[in-house]
Amino acid sequence: MGAQIIRGTDLRETILEEVAAETVKLKETHGRPPGLVTILVGENPASLSYVSLKIQTAHRVGFKEVQENLPADVSESELLALIASYNQDETIDGILVQLPLPGHMDESRVIHAIDPAKDVDAFHPVNVGRLMLEGSRAPFLPCTPAGIQEMLVRAGVPVAGAEVVVVGRSNIVGKPIANLLLQKGRAANATVTVAHTGTRDLASHCRRADILIVAAGVPNLVKPEWIKPGACVIDVGVNRVGERISEKTGKSVAILRGDVDYDAALGVAGWITPVPGGVGPMTIAMLMRNTLKAMQLRVAAEAGTADRL
Ligand code: GUN
Repeated sequence: MGAQIIRGTDLRETILEEVAAETVKLKETHGRPPGLVTILVGENPASLSYVSLKIQTAHRVGFKEVQENLPADVSESELLALIASYNQDETIDGILVQLPLPGHMDESRVIHAIDPAKDVDAFHPVNVGRLMLEGSRAPFLPCTPAGIQEMLVRAGVPVAGAEVVVVGRSNIVGKPIANLLLQKGRAANATVTVAHTGTRDLASHCRRADILIVAAGVPNLVKPEWIKPGACVIDVGVNRVGERISEKTGKSVAILRGDVDYDAALGVAGWITPVPGGVGPMTIAMLMRNTLKAMQLRVAAEAGTADRL
C-alpha cells in the first residue's frame, strides 16, 4: 500500500478559516485587526517569494499587513531603528525579519531587538527559552515546528513513545522541533535523536525512525532504503533545482525538490509530506496563528486578564 500523503495545503485552509473567524471577532470587540509587519533586507529571490506569500496570506485572513523591503546595503542601526519603531506601534502585533540577513549584520543582535511579545517567529531568546521550559504551553511556538506537530496530530500519526529522528540542527527547524516533540504533552513525549553533518552513518539512524523529519537542505538526500517501512516522513527541504515556465502566467518559476527522494519513498513510508505543498504552507498558517495570538495576549494584558510576555 502506498503512503498516505499529508498535504499542508489542505490543513492550511482549515487553520486560516479559524484565524479569519477570530479576526472578525477581534475587529468587532477591539476595533482593529491583528497587524503584521514583514521586514526583508535585500532581494534574495527565495526570501522575496516567502515574504510575499506571508503578506498575501495576512491580507487574506483580514490582518493589517505592512511590507518593509530594505536595500541590501542598509545599515544595521537603521534596521534596529525600524524594529524599535514597530515595537512601539500599537497597531502592529507581529514583527517578522526574514532570514538570512546580509553578512554585514549580526542576526542575533537583530533578533534580540524585537519585543518578545511581538516575536511571532519565536526566534527571540525569551521565546526559545520558553519553548525549552514550557513546551507547547509557551505563548509562541516557532512556525515550522508547530506546523509539523499540527500535521502529525491531524494525520493521526502516533507520537508518544515514538522514535523520532531529526536530520538537521538549525535554530529554525532542527533544534526547536526536537525540543517540542521531546516535551511531556499532547503529540509529543517522543524519543528524539538529532542527526547532523557530523553524524556517522546517517542512514542507520534514519532507518530506526518511526517519524523521520528531514531539514538538511540537500535535495534527494534520503533514499527509500533509509526509511523504515510504514514510517512517517516529514520533508522540510525546499531546494531550488532549476527553473521552468509556468503554463498559467508564462513567467519563469523555480522547480522545487525536497530532501527526500519522494517518488521512491512513496512505496515505503506510511505517511509522507510532498514538496511543494507539505510543510511550507503550514509554516505560513502558523505565522498567522501566532500573530492572532499576539494580539489576543496583548488585549488580554491591557484588560488585566493576562500577563504580558
Ligand atoms: N527564513 C527561513 N525560514 C524563516 C522563517 O520561518 N522565518 C523567518 N523570519 N525567516 C526565515
